[in-house]
Amino acid sequence: MTLFDVYPLNDITIVKAEGSYVWDDKGVQYLDMYGGHAVISIGHTNPHWIKRIEDQLHQIAFYSNSIKIPLQQELADKLGQLSGKENYQLFLCNSGAEANENALKLASFYNGRKKIVAFKKAFHGRTSLAVAATDNPNIVAPVNETENVIFLPFNDEEALKEYFKDHGNEISSVIIEGIQGVGGINIANENFLKLIRSLCDKYNAVYIADSVQCGYGRSGKFFSHDYAGVDADIYSMAKGMGNGFPVGGILISPKIHPRHFMLGTTFGGNHLACAASLAVLEVMEKGDLIKQSEENGSYLINKLKKIKEIKNVRGKGLMIGFDVPENIKDLKKNLLYRHHIFTGEAKPNIIRLLPALNISQVEIDKFLQALKKEIAVLSNERKLKVSSPL
Ligand SMILES: Cc1ncc(COP(=O)(O)O)c(C=O)c1O
Repeated sequence: MTLFDVYPLNDITIVKAEGSYVWDDKGVQYLDMYGGHAVISIGHTNPHWIKRIEDQLHQIAFYSNSIKIPLQQELADKLGQLSGKENYQLFLCNSGAEANENALKLASFYNGRKKIVAFKKAFHGRTSLAVAATDNPNIVAPVNETENVIFLPFNDEEALKEYFKDHGNEISSVIIEGIQGVGGINIANENFLKLIRSLCDKYNAVYIADSVQCGYGRSGKFFSHDYAGVDADIYSMAKGMGNGFPVGGILISPKIHPRHFMLGTTFGGNHLACAASLAVLEVMEKGDLIKQSEENGSYLINKLKKIKEIKNVRGKGLMIGFDVPENIKDLKKNLLYRHHIFTGEAKPNIIRLLPALNISQVEIDKFLQALKKEIAVLSNERKLKVSSPL
């Protein structure tokens, strides 16, 4: 049997990881500025995380949601405490797409409406409704196509007001990433988020904060939407929530009431997932990782802004992006193969940095040094090519 070939792969096999480093099968060490796609929040193979999962594994890994699982309540309490959303309700699932799928569905149950407002360049996942609300026709299969989703320009207050004026009473939900990740690290303006809040209030639409990538402390606040001082009705979460253990969830405002069988899942909220998620929050709390993310992020962003060859440095906390000009377009590839540093990307020419929240300044400096060195090499190679075209 072959693997279904959906990913263009780097020819690297990672076999070991610790903190902000990973190692390949030949013993080569790599600095992980990508966090396995924003997933590694507390560092690879964190000892407390391993112990929590290991201990749980010896007790019980899984039983269905037909019985009481006190770990779920423990997780809800800890999440409420760290996020400040103590009066919200928690529903657990297994991935980011599933979290958004449940959020969109719940919104529709809540107000009985069908229309979803999403934004240009949004990415919300690959399940049916989540992908329909994702602004990438290449990954929307004909069966996912729906007229219920409308894409408006990101951060365009007038377009949003206009759409609400004409269709306000049909809109079930507005879904927005506080910082667009796959779309290239685009920050939602605080006033734009405030406007979403007030329009949703006025028309009884549900404000869904997709916090799958920008949430869980990555932005320097628990939810990046917190910067705007607004409360969303539903927050979707995944990625950093389990530090690599597959888990997702939604935080639901008290104004939305549950009824039995409205949502459901076999695996969501299993004992092992709860243990992994609790370990993440415990490490985050003990190490003050949200503050660290804010401080390290500001340090990194300020240093990046001084490198004149890269453009449009932006981000919050440890969710950072910059544009790579054409003359140094091999930067990402060379950082990986020449300097053994993983970074993320966004099309067409953006480098995304999503390291563990507890990355050290020494590691950040190591990255900056390699980045500057590679930019100098690439700029020189380019000059040589231009001056001797043969
Ligand atoms: C903002 C956002 N929402 C949802 C998802 C989907 O998450 P998952 O891949 O866990 O389904 C992603 C994944 O990259 C994401 O970045």
